[in-house]
Amino acid sequence: MALFLETSTVLLRRIKDIRPLTAKRHRVKGKWATTLPKHPPTRLALQHFDATYSAQLGDLWPSVRVALLSERKYGALLNNFCHSPDLEELQAQGSAPLRLHQAGLWPLAAVNKAPQGETIWSEFWSIMPDKFGLLSYYLMDAASVLPSLALDVQANHTVLDLCAAPGGKALALLQTQSARFLCLNDSSVSRTSRLKRVLHSYAPKELLTDDKLRITSVDGTMWGEIERNSFDRVLVDVPCTTDRHSLMEDDNNMFSRSRVGERRSLPRLQAELLLAGIIAACPGGEVLYSTCTLCPSQNLGVVERAVQLAEENHGIRLQVVSLRPLVRMFQNTFHFAPDLHLGEMVVPHLAANFGPIYMCKIRRLA
Ligand SMILES: C[S@@+](CC[C@H](N)C(=O)[O-])C[C@H]1O[C@@H](n2cnc3c(N)ncnc32)[C@H](O)[C@@H]1O
Repeated sequence: MALFLETSTVLLRRIKDIRPLTAKRHRVKGKWATTLPKHPPTRLALQHFDATYSAQLGDLWPSVRVALLSERKYGALLNNFCHSPDLEELQAQGSAPLRLHQAGLWPLAAVNKAPQGETIWSEFWSIMPDKFGLLSYYLMDAASVLPSLALDVQANHTVLDLCAAPGGKALALLQTQSARFLCLNDSSVSRTSRLKRVLHSYAPKELLTDDKLRITSVDGTMWGEIERNSFDRVLVDVPCTTDRHSLMEDDNNMFSRSRVGERRSLPRLQAELLLAGIIAACPGGEVLYSTCTLCPSQNLGVVERAVQLAEENHGIRLQVVSLRPLVRMFQNTFHFAPDLHLGEMVVPHLAANFGPIYMCKIRRLA
């Protein structure tokens, strides 16, 4: 598997993009202006982040803010299972692959001749499926592949992805072909259907058989009632405030007034999901918790709470596993938050506009 990154040739244009495009005196009120919400969720999100992240990130916040409000970068997760001339051409554009994984299964290359700005989608998605109907790459925030890497799946491992849809990280896991058995779950039935479509578009049928893969759609917080002490690796990539989405899209936004309760209860749900993941792991097994928010109460706060609950209520002893080796490997590609006392976090930056992604890895001792 390889991951291609769009280079930042359009940096100046991005900075320009965050200023209003029309001079104030020329702006016309939209016809439906009166029906628009007075406080759009994106604006509420920005107010909330300004208040909380400026205190948390200090001097770093203004540059993170600009990056979050600018055009994001994408990475193309190249599909090892696809045999397409387009893919070969894309690979030819890349610099020499960098070894990311001891087994050499995770090459990452930066695109030298990058697709420019808005053409990126049409260029990427115009690629035709190969003769088996498999697509050549999956577009995602490049930093989103890190949790799958951090999970460090070894040959013969059984793996649970507790919140798997739409499936970017599951696809990355599948690409390694290390796992003996992969169990993918998501409580949303519609998103689970999308996950299935993604898998069928990227993986050969032989890898999607019942002895290698199970797809379920249950509430992940109840997983402990289904299977305990079972999996070598568990990925818990929880629902969160998805900071980039909250700042850019009013649709399906966690900061809309109707979702205040849901947003406030996120840390509780996240801790329950992580606890369920810990219970599902076997002794000696490892659990990777991840989010795409900078919010400490959804990141470190959740890990601390779940570890406490696991120890106090279930007698499970845990140990935090350092992700420093992974950070060192990627320090020239992503911008990591300095001095986090628990876990690691990719922080958006104009020169590397990926993330946010928070990750914390814990090992079950008993
Ligand atoms: C951040 S997304 C996961 C993204 C996915 N890992 C990927 O890489 O494409 C979080 C997912 O959690 C699911 N979810 C929300 N509540 C859940 C629950 N109680 N149990 C399981 N999944 C849940 C959502 O439907 C959503 O698809």
